Amino acid sequence: MHTVHPDVERILIGAHEIEAIIARLGAEITADYADKNPLLVAVLRGAVVFMADLMRAIECPLSIDFMATSSYGSGVTSSGTVRILKDLETNIRDRHVIVAEDILDSGLTLSNLISMLQSRDPASIEICAFAVKDIDGYTPPVTPKYVGRHVPNEFIVGYGLDYAERYRNLPYVGVLKPEVYS
Ligand code: PRP
Repeated sequence: MHTVHPDVERILIGAHEIEAIIARLGAEITADYADKNPLLVAVLRGAVVFMADLMRAIECPLSIDFMATSSYGSGVTSSGTVRILKDLETNIRDRHVIVAEDILDSGLTLSNLISMLQSRDPASIEICAFAVKDIDGYTPPVTPKYVGRHVPNEFIVGYGLDYAERYRNLPYVGVLKPEVYS
């Protein structure tokens, strides 16, 4: 049993809820992709934990691959594209691609990534986001087909999500105490 990290104000999504979310997403994807041999793509680094859980909850044949993009803070260039630090090794032409993301915040990372992958002519491309941040009055540029959970517009860490590269290993999603980042 893990104790709550002292920098965490409260647990937002506990380990049991994560398990239930993963089981549901896995069942949905299994049903939709039974004979499609999808390629599950994770965007490093945050999505690694989610990816590892999600792939084991999907009960049809699939393959996996990874990409790394520069973070949107400094990474979205004036032309509005993300910089690829590590590209896929798989040719996605005519493949059914599912991009697994830990969190959709502004959605800029995903919308740029999706348009880039779209230009490689996959058979289909969908997003599976573990968490989608609800931001008042804001509509993100992409809509994930599969959503784990909506989360409030708070500073959250854990289950792959970091603050200054820390807390990714927490087995739950927690709200960070403001004094940690202010
Ligand atoms: C985080 C997260 C998403 C992205 C979401 O990644 O993992 O990829 O930001 O934000 P957006 O919807 O506003 O674009 P980050 O670039 O911090 O890298 P990391 O995965 O290594 O933490």
